Amino acid sequence: MTCWSGLHLLASPTDSLHFKPTHHVKPDVNRRSMSIGCHCQAILFHQNLNTMVATSDIPADTSTSLLTTLADEISSSATLLSSHIESRRLPWPSFSADGPRQPICEDNEEVSRARTALIEATRSLHALAVGPVETTKHFCFNEIYLLGAMQVLCHFEIPQNVPLQGTITFHHLASKTGLSEALLPRFLRMAIANFYFAEPEPGLVAHSAWSKPLATDEKMRACIWFRHAEMLPAVSKLVDMVKRYPDSPEPQDTAFSLAFGDAFFGYKERHPENMVQFGQFLDAFSGGSSADSAESIARAYPWETLPNRALVVDVGGGIGHISAAIAQAHPHLRFQVQDFEDLRGAAEELMESKGVKDRVEFVSHNFFDPQPEPARGAAVYFMRNILHNWSDLYCKRILKPIAESMGPESRIVNCDIVLPEPNSVPKAQDAVIRALDLTMLSLFNAKERSTDQWKELFASADGRLEITDMVGKPRMRMDSLVEVRLLC
Ligand SMILES: C[S@@+](CC[C@H](N)C(=O)[O-])C[C@H]1O[C@@H](n2cnc3c(N)ncnc32)[C@H](O)[C@@H]1O
Repeated sequence: MTCWSGLHLLASPTDSLHFKPTHHVKPDVNRRSMSIGCHCQAILFHQNLNTMVATSDIPADTSTSLLTTLADEISSSATLLSSHIESRRLPWPSFSADGPRQPICEDNEEVSRARTALIEATRSLHALAVGPVETTKHFCFNEIYLLGAMQVLCHFEIPQNVPLQGTITFHHLASKTGLSEALLPRFLRMAIANFYFAEPEPGLVAHSAWSKPLATDEKMRACIWFRHAEMLPAVSKLVDMVKRYPDSPEPQDTAFSLAFGDAFFGYKERHPENMVQFGQFLDAFSGGSSADSAESIARAYPWETLPNRALVVDVGGGIGHISAAIAQAHPHLRFQVQDFEDLRGAAEELMESKGVKDRVEFVSHNFFDPQPEPARGAAVYFMRNILHNWSDLYCKRILKPIAESMGPESRIVNCDIVLPEPNSVPKAQDAVIRALDLTMLSLFNAKERSTDQWKELFASADGRLEITDMVGKPRMRMDSLVEVRLLC
């Protein structure tokens, strides 16, 4: 394992499932001249051999049956999870409507590893059972029509009109919602074939554990809406995009623009009616169990080591929900949330409601401009999910004014995904990360970045910028915190 890949694993979205950092390297202002290489040497990992089968590197072993090896892995992981559930008296994972929303508790590392191993082994076993030709023949066939069916069902408010307990007839459901009685069973049965809803008797519909959250949580419905209404048309233009605009850094040269006639945020401005659902989708995606909440960011970085009254500038901070969470957890810090003026009202309301109004100020600021005077020499320039929305060309334009305003003790703390090295994380988790990377491409001509790409980006924005620390799993779930300082 090279030094850089070792560092990467600390920060990778899924590494704790396979690699255990011996300790977290805390930033130390006295070590400012320390090179990243020294940090690397301080980070060691132990690969958990028990979970080898869960990685994408399943050996092509002809002496044993891969089918039975995987089946054994499934059996031992399922046994471990079952013991955990039983000993903690947790609800059993179930398809029925009263089944838990989060079926397997991940509150300890062994359980988390077993769950990952179970997912990987079942996925691999399924692929082997289906085989290469059938897989390709049916590629996306199911998913694309499931997405279409779910969009129709959500549009006609089917989830909200199926009772949370008990059943409803197709006939009654059609008359309550206005969806044609002839079409309703066709869409519903596609959903039922994929775990959403149930048909306990012919013509009767009930919720399943999968469909119930769609009835009770508008953010879950927004996930379906965004994928269908905006991502799907954009994805269908990817070939056009790469033919017309190969390697363009421009945010308007995208698959999204080809589908909708405008760059993503320009389109959003012209369609404010979609903004609510888009916001709900983002909330569900980034606040869910697979991503990092404001609270985990407030805990993951050693904010407590910053001096009393130190200023944290939240660049492109939106309405400041991350700053508010850090401010609540660290009362000795001050914050400046920078974003567009139209967010001021919502930001100030949030700070008031969180009781941090006296320490968190909203400042209207375009992040391509020089930092305003009061924000120069701040202790931290924090960015979350900003740079992954932009190509390198634009990221440099965002980073330059920040670097210019940094003092000797300032640091950038950037919160984004750090792409794992190929074959270093389980395939199921890698697939989510790669899909996010292609989302950035399709919507913004932007990208998720690997450790080396982050390193190059910071250095190319200002030769003095160097990564001095990374915090990934287990403190963070999907994103990593990358600390960058001016090293002269
Ligand atoms: C993906 S959101 C991230 C918001 C926030 N950092 C968070 O993690 O929730 C990107 C933010 O960048 C802001 N933004 C986009 N272009 C900007 C610019 N030129 N100057 C300042 N903020 C900008 C948007 O208004 C939005 O709030």
